[in-house]
Amino acid sequence: MRILMVCLGNICRSPIAEGVMRALVTRDNLDWVIDSAGTESYHIGEPPHTYSQKICQKNGVDISQQKARKFVAADLKDFDLIYVMARDVMESVKHIAGSAFDARKVILFLEESHPGSGRSVPDPWYGTEEGYSEVYDMIHDTCSVILEKYRAAAVTDLYN
Ligand code: 4NP
Repeated sequence: MRILMVCLGNICRSPIAEGVMRALVTRDNLDWVIDSAGTESYHIGEPPHTYSQKICQKNGVDISQQKARKFVAADLKDFDLIYVMARDVMESVKHIAGSAFDARKVILFLEESHPGSGRSVPDPWYGTEEGYSEVYDMIHDTCSVILEKYRAAAVTDLYN
């Protein structure tokens, strides 16, 4: 299983999603590849936002070694699932992917925990430190749902 988390800058939301998802699959000894990217170029090469690092560290997840990169059309080929943090990110992913876009693999992240809601993870960039904590909780809950859903799928594949 190869999962890519995507937001706008790849410094606030998707680095948390990458770190939390990786921590969960590592805990459970699963051989999944987890990565993240952003649809904009502003922060390429930068580490995650200080508040994203801080809230992750508080929860035992080290994301300090991550570096922002831009989402590219080839990611559609390289990943099984691409989770977009927000609806505007979905639109940018469609634009960047062009003819490579595949609606079966690009999913609005919060649909996994709140099906049919069409909700986006709020962008904490313009907010306070508290906003990062709320975003962390949302992301953690949703990553747990994803883990259970696809772990079960992997086991079913194994026995069929
Ligand atoms: P992210 O947050 O998409 O969660 O990484 C943002 C980071 C930077 C900017 C916007 C959102 N920016 O405009 O620079």
